[in-house]
Amino acid sequence: MASLALTAATTSKTTGNSPRKRTANGKVTRDLAMKNNNQQNLHAFRKMKAEGTKICMVTAYDASMARCVAASEMDIILVGDSLGMVVLGYENTLQVTMGDMITHSAAVRRGAPQSFVIADMPYLSYHLSLDEAKANAAALITAGKADAVKLEGGTASRQEAIRQIVDCEIPVCGHIGLTPQSVYRFGGFRVQGKTPEAHEQLLRQAVALEKAGIFMLVLEGIPEELAREITAAVKIPTIGIGAGRYVDGQVLVYHDLLGHSTLMPKFVKQYANLDQTITSALNGYCAEVRSGAFPAAEHTYYPITEQE
Ligand code: KIV
Repeated sequence: MASLALTAATTSKTTGNSPRKRTANGKVTRDLAMKNNNQQNLHAFRKMKAEGTKICMVTAYDASMARCVAASEMDIILVGDSLGMVVLGYENTLQVTMGDMITHSAAVRRGAPQSFVIADMPYLSYHLSLDEAKANAAALITAGKADAVKLEGGTASRQEAIRQIVDCEIPVCGHIGLTPQSVYRFGGFRVQGKTPEAHEQLLRQAVALEKAGIFMLVLEGIPEELAREITAAVKIPTIGIGAGRYVDGQVLVYHDLLGHSTLMPKFVKQYANLDQTITSALNGYCAEVRSGAFPAAEHTYYPITEQE
């Protein structure tokens, strides 16, 4: 299907699930073909890279969060396995299961029926065998209702898993650098790619992952210069988190960017303080319950009549 990129107004007011795009010259374009058409979306993301239009991605884990994201100008929702930490309260992402990912991905889809949704493949869902990797990726698409899956790592075995999943017609997003599922091997959440050898290795892995068939690559926790080199070396879009300025787009965890989290890594910019807003609203409610101001007459039902 041909892409119908129509130039619309230069100022944009947000509409839910809007396929409107900001181009490098500030114009807003309406790519009608992007709406609810995954293959077109994959092409559109590559086109955004080619045109220098930054791609915006954020995580979401349930229907109400997804509804808010869908009402914004976000390009992509990531159902990250970070849900293990920010929603389920684990210390890392290793305990997240396929069941968790399917439940949360399907919830996100219900809240954002038209958005492009990527679901994370959790720890051990693609490590043990290629058959399991394919079946688990497929489950995130069929039961989790995602448009694409993401998996971590760039070694030869990850490249093979990606080739086979893509061969099942499932779009795969790669993820290299500070891959949280490697936290024990890394000895903590440490910036990667700092030595010349590690730098070269990540650069080689990025190119190999592109060859294996990924449509997009998340670069996490690496020096800005390395991210810039990788971005120049591949045709697919790169999405950074703690990878600096010279990537094709950015991703942040919903709770971090909205100030609804206890951790605040250096690379996060907080655009709201939800913790404060929520606590103060809850205290307002408590105060009014205690004073009797809530519920008021307008919050109560009328007396029961004989007929409903
Ligand atoms: O799980 C997640 O949220 C992620 C992002 C941090 C990229 O993988």
